Amino acid sequence: MTASPVAVVDLDLPGPRISRHLYGHFAEHLGRCIYEGFWVGEDSEIENVEGIRADVVEALRALKIPNLRWPGGCFADEYHWMDGIGPREQRPRMVNTHWGDVVENNHFGTHEFMRLCELLDTEPYISANVGSGTVRETSEWVEYLTRGGEAPMSELRRRNGRQDPWQVKFLGIGNEPWGCGGGMSAEQYVALARQHATYARNHGQNKLCRIAAGAADDDYGWTETLMKHVTRGLGDTSPQDIYQAISFHYYTFAGTWADKGKAADFTREEHWTTMRKAQRVREIIAGHCAVMDAYDPTRKVGLALDEWGTWWNVEEGTNPGFLHQQNTMRDALVAAVHFEAFHDYAERLRLANIAQTVNVLQAMVLTDGPQLVLTPSYHVFEMSTGHHDAQRLDVRFAPGQEPVREVDGETINTLSLTASTKDDQLTLTAANLDPDAAQQVTVSLRGRTIGQLQGRILTAGDVADHNSAEAPERVAPQPYRHAQLQHTPAGQQLTLQLPPASYLSLTGDLHDHLQPQA
Ligand code: AHR
Repeated sequence: MTASPVAVVDLDLPGPRISRHLYGHFAEHLGRCIYEGFWVGEDSEIENVEGIRADVVEALRALKIPNLRWPGGCFADEYHWMDGIGPREQRPRMVNTHWGDVVENNHFGTHEFMRLCELLDTEPYISANVGSGTVRETSEWVEYLTRGGEAPMSELRRRNGRQDPWQVKFLGIGNEPWGCGGGMSAEQYVALARQHATYARNHGQNKLCRIAAGAADDDYGWTETLMKHVTRGLGDTSPQDIYQAISFHYYTFAGTWADKGKAADFTREEHWTTMRKAQRVREIIAGHCAVMDAYDPTRKVGLALDEWGTWWNVEEGTNPGFLHQQNTMRDALVAAVHFEAFHDYAERLRLANIAQTVNVLQAMVLTDGPQLVLTPSYHVFEMSTGHHDAQRLDVRFAPGQEPVREVDGETINTLSLTASTKDDQLTLTAANLDPDAAQQVTVSLRGRTIGQLQGRILTAGDVADHNSAEAPERVAPQPYRHAQLQHTPAGQQLTLQLPPASYLSLTGDLHDHLQPQA
């Protein structure tokens, strides 16, 4: 056990709202995410609702997924949405050139995705094809999805069985246009993005948040180009933003893009390098925010990290284009590090999507035929739902008290702690990133009083532990009864013991201090 650092939380000073959309997910036509993961078809022996896997939906509903991004990723920029509507057997096929070079039968299309969103009770985040599609395709897809009354696309939708328009909140204008999405310069992309965004109309009550496809990692120049062109332009008497948010992508791995490291077989050195790289997300968010602040000091335009998570070498014996990887307690800690950074930049960061929900990259659930396994990453998402739409409570360590260590010549945190309040409830989550040493932390709670605490902890015998069909509950949350709450003259003092490689979630009711009688 290392010495106990002291953090301070002022319970009566709530900060900005942590949008629930920071806990978004991503489902691409990639490997076994859509086919086998979400979609098994109506004739499958696996229990399904109109072709959609019932067990996957049931498991994911506990995560309260706020938005689901689809159909890509790189796939989005070669997807022609009209191929995915109408009678399934008559839908044209295509080659998924990015992911495994497999033939896509388009059986999972717009109606199937929107039905999935209904079953998950989540907002759709549709990514339009800018790389190989047309402005007309984007425009008509939005009309098909969101327009009521008499119009060519609404009538086509009705002929395909859906009477009322859907509501679509988020529309991505392409994906990674600097790479798989068209190999464009920022200047080329922004011109095209403005065209697509212009013709992606708001129909009826539906109001789109158009998200321009942004930078890789710390390419702040890309963000700057997008910010320079965000308004409608000269001559507009009431300048309006042409896109309402700008995205960027950031993945975490231990090695290099060519050799990222193994998912479940890694050294302590690789563990710490992973934590260092995960913590870099904070610096990168800050960099994009700084550029955006210069052009938009009132923070009208949102920042969206619409792809993040761990990316390891694919599991041996699996299709290299399917990006299938195991998921250990280390992945859960990477997620925890991201959540803390997301909360700290909640004033500008409005949406984030972990990649990807089922069977691909840092998945929530892994399926194998009829079997389904919940990953450690699933559990940290489920244990963090109290933060959705809550107000951030700043966590400040007394000077010199932050638990840190040196990794690859950099100082990184070994503890991640974040708190929020909603409806007079406190949610506090803490991760011990150290795989070998327990940590004790003391939190001085001031300004309000907390009642009885409920806690759950996720931990593992080893940071490389993971769940499998044989041991589905090896890493699963357990009740936590080690929170000690003491009254002090300054308020209350909470002392927590965190086992090595663990994630703790605590909730409790907040009360105002009793006012002394006059
Ligand atoms: O999530 C996998 C891929 O990573 C996405 O398709 C692409 O946008 C990114 O490079």
